[in-house]
Amino acid sequence: MAAAAAVVWRMLPLLILSLALLITITNRRRSELFPANYATLATTDGLCSTVEAHGYQCQEYNVTTGDGYVLRVHRIPAAGLRDQGQFSSKTNQPVLLQHGILMDGMSWLLAPPQQSLAIILAENGFDVWIANSRGTRWSRGHTSLSPDQPEYWAWSWDQLAQYDLPTVVNFVHEVTGQKLHYVGHSLGTLIALASFSEHKLVEKVRSAALLCPIAYLGHITTILGQVAANSFIGEMTGWLGVVEFNPKIEAVDNFIKAICRQPGIDCYDLMPAFTGKNCCLNASTVELFLQNEPQPTSTRNFVHLAQMIRGGDITMYDYSSVNENMKHYGQKEPPAYNMSNIPSDLPLFLIYGGQDVLSDIFDLHLLLDSLKFHQKDKLTVHYIHNYAHVDFIMGINAKQLVYDHVVAFFMRQQ
Ligand SMILES: *[C@@H]1O[C@H](CO)[C@@H](O)[C@H](O)[C@H]1NC(C)=O
Ligand SMILES: *[C@@H]1O[C@H](CO)[C@@H](O)[C@H](O)[C@H]1NC(C)=O
Ligand SMILES: *[C@@H]1O[C@H](CO)[C@@H](O)[C@H](O)[C@H]1NC(C)=O
Repeated sequence: MAAAAAVVWRMLPLLILSLALLITITNRRRSELFPANYATLATTDGLCSTVEAHGYQCQEYNVTTGDGYVLRVHRIPAAGLRDQGQFSSKTNQPVLLQHGILMDGMSWLLAPPQQSLAIILAENGFDVWIANSRGTRWSRGHTSLSPDQPEYWAWSWDQLAQYDLPTVVNFVHEVTGQKLHYVGHSLGTLIALASFSEHKLVEKVRSAALLCPIAYLGHITTILGQVAANSFIGEMTGWLGVVEFNPKIEAVDNFIKAICRQPGIDCYDLMPAFTGKNCCLNASTVELFLQNEPQPTSTRNFVHLAQMIRGGDITMYDYSSVNENMKHYGQKEPPAYNMSNIPSDLPLFLIYGGQDVLSDIFDLHLLLDSLKFHQKDKLTVHYIHNYAHVDFIMGINAKQLVYDHVVAFFMRQQ
């Protein structure tokens, strides 16, 4: 079993790349193959119905990014205020929760309420705001494009950092009139780190807690490095660049199952293959997770991450064409994000797990190394040896191991 699991782990990059390839091919003829088959995706149950079922107030907003994406933002006001029937703007400090890749705002509310970070923060007097990245079920609007058009998917995490994040941060800042605390998970940490490294948002962010920080990716796995190093990726990039990566499409699901029937591959549990061996999951929470996630993202987002795995550095998306790079960046190579440029007085809280295959310990140490001149009293680092990627958002003991520390950290940054 262990050997089989190891094979799956090592096959992960191939799985992702094959999936990306398959989706590209199918998407090119999607009108034939998938006549707008988004039934499972367009779950109408809003996030607010879950929050309200737990007995808390909830509000929805739509905000539009500079490049036209209409993003849904959810808000859970501090629990102490919930009986007033009013959203008080200036009393409580806002916290923004930013989910990771293939997830959405629901990822903060899958566990029972007393174990969910969003509710725990509200109970501790924070004004909780929840972001939903472009392309996920509640953030599929656009001023001129539709998700059926390839142009809609022409973005990677660069644009999440450049447009989605500042749009939401500015909105929360405007509505509350206060600097905000930030919580990112997985890709939600990378887009914040990238922004901070360009000295963006820092005047509006009071502090940031990063769960499973992702920055350097060069050490995810040996095989991944090898696959990514293959020029094959670069060649595919051009035509992989503009489509939706939606694991819920039935053909994709079938494709995964077909891969899992290959000799030597045992996908008896795909989650550990994607995230590491999570120690502390609750079966009911996992069931809810599978009902709600994964959410779509753009294939280009994966290609961008694959480029970082191959390169081992943190750069903007490489169009793999001098002309295109010149057009977008005014230089032949994509510009790098320099993590050492993060303002050294920005209060940061990093927490990572020993079983996490996505936020590898070696890569995490590269990040810490680039933060070595960060003011000592502004950088808090925690390590949980048996935690993997998903434990951080829904582990049964995440309150004690993660969230209580996050709350205490925010309290110290008043
Ligand atoms: C946000 O946009 C959606 C889709 O257009 C709409 O159904 C919803 O009513 C809007 N919500 C708010 C609060 O404006
Ligand atoms: C697991 O989740 C269920 C449903 O939310 C909950 O009733 C139960 O208490 C949870 N178990 C643990 C150990 O937290
Ligand atoms: C990154 O930023 C640091 C601090 O500002 C600087 O010393 C270093 O030279 C930069 N590295 C690169 C590769 O530009």
